[in-house]
Amino acid sequence: MNEKRSTFGSKLGMVAAAAGSAVGLGNIWRFPSETADGGGAIFIIVYIACILFFGIPLMVAEFLIGRSSRANAAGAFHKLAPNTPWKWVGRLGVLTGFVILGFYMVVCGWTVDYFIQSVTGSLKEVSDFSANFNTLLANRPKQVGLMAFFVLLTAYFIFSGVQKGIERSAKIMMPVLFLLLIVLVVRALSLEGARGGIDFLFKPDFQEVKSTVFLDAMGQAFFSLSLGMGCMMTYASYFKDNTNLTKTAVQVSLLDSTVALLAGMVIFPSAFALTTNPDTIVSELVAGGPGLLFITVPGLFNQMEGSMIWSAMFFLLLAIAALTSTISLMEVVTIYIQEEHKVSRKKGLFFVLIGVLLLGTLSALSPQSFNILDMASAKIMLPVGGLFISLFAGWYLDKKIVQVELTNDGKIKFGISFLKTYSFILKFLAPVAILLIFLYGLIG
Ligand code: PFF
Repeated sequence: MNEKRSTFGSKLGMVAAAAGSAVGLGNIWRFPSETADGGGAIFIIVYIACILFFGIPLMVAEFLIGRSSRANAAGAFHKLAPNTPWKWVGRLGVLTGFVILGFYMVVCGWTVDYFIQSVTGSLKEVSDFSANFNTLLANRPKQVGLMAFFVLLTAYFIFSGVQKGIERSAKIMMPVLFLLLIVLVVRALSLEGARGGIDFLFKPDFQEVKSTVFLDAMGQAFFSLSLGMGCMMTYASYFKDNTNLTKTAVQVSLLDSTVALLAGMVIFPSAFALTTNPDTIVSELVAGGPGLLFITVPGLFNQMEGSMIWSAMFFLLLAIAALTSTISLMEVVTIYIQEEHKVSRKKGLFFVLIGVLLLGTLSALSPQSFNILDMASAKIMLPVGGLFISLFAGWYLDKKIVQVELTNDGKIKFGISFLKTYSFILKFLAPVAILLIFLYGLIG
């Protein structure tokens, strides 16, 4: 069975696919509002520390579990820990993927609508952006239709397979995404008064530290890096034997953080440059969530010359970023059904489609359901998954497997202190830290 399993065809394609999963609404929608809320530069410093100390080690852990088992998220635990309850960690991951898809697809639908509004010029005519967004929210059939469109679009790439669908699309979409983002950054930075936004992002104000900043930053890091639900595990099951896992985790994390920072460098400089009162703009950004991307940002673009082009570019960028993430989420669930229930990819995908369309419809129709799915996945399911994955890799997994995977069977040399630090993080540091996020998620 192993021989028939797909792998990514090239190094570039593999990194693009994994980075495509990581870069998504989390970077462009969630990161700027979290940053605003966390006081700007302070949040960013803590966020980067979280990526370095917890994010990258946990990504390596998912990579080595995925590649050594060459199975879907649940099958991986089956293989590495047969007849133990560990398989429930994988199953929880698959369920988390399904739950995230349920609300994420609705936001993807909004993105498509805003792209269409930008291209047709109707967004340019809007005077009240809040009312404009509420009109979309009130139009339930339209939301369901847009969500369904995005689900089918994602399914098309899953149907096309690992190399022809996932890898090829990421190889095209990721460079386009970077290009669009850089054009937008240049535009934002050239606005008069953009400086205020850059200062807010990069000059820490130590008086502004919130007590929850550490935990907020950590939650954001896991969501953004697609960690805690076996997504990176699933992608790693398609890695080649000679893929350097540590290097890949560093590259993916670097790309992900770069996109988040660049997105911040579009939003904050524009916000500071185009508002008459920078204090209110920060609080507006803090309000965050849908309001940030679908109310504040188009409002900002509308004050620029050629607003149609800028907003079309921005929402296209958002749709692309979201698509490479929904592809990874759907792949986790599809390959699970395919392998664990021994059905064809087509049949597996069919079941996933039905499930996601139903859940997506529910969250498009009911804002409460949308919020429950959002909260349950980010605040409960991902932290619990991440906690158990690090415990599994740190305590349960045979040290030999860890060493073989990290060094590609001796071909990559690491100092003993590197391996020790890595093991310390997975055994103690990461589980304790994740436990804190989890408790915070429940309380806060
Ligand atoms: N990392 C994606 C984002 O930042 O939007 C969201 C995500 C994708 C989370 C895949 C989890 C996942 F497995």
